[in-house]
Amino acid sequence: MGGGLSGLWDGMTFWLGSQGWEYLEIGRAWQWLLIVGLLFWFFLVVRNTVPALKRPPVRKLSIMFLIAAFSIPVFYLPAVFFDNTTNYTIVDTWRFWIIHLWVEGFFELFATTMVALTFIELGLVSKQMGLRLIFLDATLIFMGGIIGTGHHWYFSGMTQPNMMLSSCFSALEVVPLVVLCVEAWSFRKTALLGPDQTMAKKFYWPLMFMLGVGFWNFIGAGVLGFLINMPIVSYFEVGTYLTSNHGHAAMFGVFGMLSLALCLMVLRESASDEVWAKAEKWIKCSFWGLNIGLMLMLVLSLMPAGFLQLWDVFSSGYWHARSVEFTNSGLLSFFGYFRMPGDLVFIFFGAIPFFIASWKVWRFNSKTSVK
Ligand code: HEM
Ligand SMILES: [Fe+2]
Repeated sequence: MGGGLSGLWDGMTFWLGSQGWEYLEIGRAWQWLLIVGLLFWFFLVVRNTVPALKRPPVRKLSIMFLIAAFSIPVFYLPAVFFDNTTNYTIVDTWRFWIIHLWVEGFFELFATTMVALTFIELGLVSKQMGLRLIFLDATLIFMGGIIGTGHHWYFSGMTQPNMMLSSCFSALEVVPLVVLCVEAWSFRKTALLGPDQTMAKKFYWPLMFMLGVGFWNFIGAGVLGFLINMPIVSYFEVGTYLTSNHGHAAMFGVFGMLSLALCLMVLRESASDEVWAKAEKWIKCSFWGLNIGLMLMLVLSLMPAGFLQLWDVFSSGYWHARSVEFTNSGLLSFFGYFRMPGDLVFIFFGAIPFFIASWKVWRFNSKTSVK
């Protein structure tokens, strides 16, 4: 075994350096540290969820939430099921048990439960409706998600029946995403037109970020994931810009937006109305900046680059479309640089305003508490 990417650190690479497996590169020692960290996070989550377990209206959902949270550290464990001499197909099996099932299984369940719990707590949907939707979604997510893991293995020695099953089931994953998007939209209507608007008004921006989760789940994961999902499409495009196009839209769109929504819930809860009024315009700017920035990254750069690369696969062959000469040349390189407008909008109108809003709430909160 060589010593890391530069060959400088013989022997220790596997434990402390880079293992070289995409997405699970970090050395084994850090992976164990991550597992311990995630278990500690789960402990913190349990500690804060115990009071909810004692309240019958949210008891069932809270148990579901804890199961979803626990499955995140547990399903990182396959990362230690192989070492540096294991057969490639076995490594890839466990690798995608993590990569795919985290985002298309447990995170998705966690996100759905979290959103439903929040809406029930705010009184925007009834307990029954929230529970029903979450069980339906969970069933659909796992039916599609687990067998669907095979959409990452089409061409790593999978048999034809496997290929058939995994392509059908991963195509089915789009169903819960559409359901979620429709739900998010009806939640919004309920929130804005319902009889009691106090909560909906108070938590307007966290709710909008959650609506963003529904939107990107549909577009990023559903539409752009579906675009590259069938074996016949995957055969030509696997690992091209169309993959990044989907990965970015789904990853930031769904889980980035969700974490910001949860941050905002906490910020809103901790701020008085006056303090919130000072931060609100920055949050509004951030919401649009992040969404428009992400959309521009896709529309101006990743998507056209992806189609251009796909065209080159057809005309010159896959080997050519993935070569450095091609990806650094002409129009493709232009689209690479054309990531900048979207990135700049994302940073200056999205990320920075979000930081300013959080800073304002924190500063004015500490001022008021001094009084
Ligand atoms: C929120 C949910 C999702 C997230 C965060 C997500 C994220 C990602 C990421 C980061 C990759 C790149 C993996 C790599 O580089 O090898 C990927 C690949 C892929 N995703 Fe998703 N995804 C989601 C949902 C979906 C859904 C619902 C489908 C199918 C309808 C799908 C189909 C695919 C396929 C086929 C690939 C492999 C593409 C290739 O290697 O070219 N994804 N996904
Ligand atoms: Fe996947």
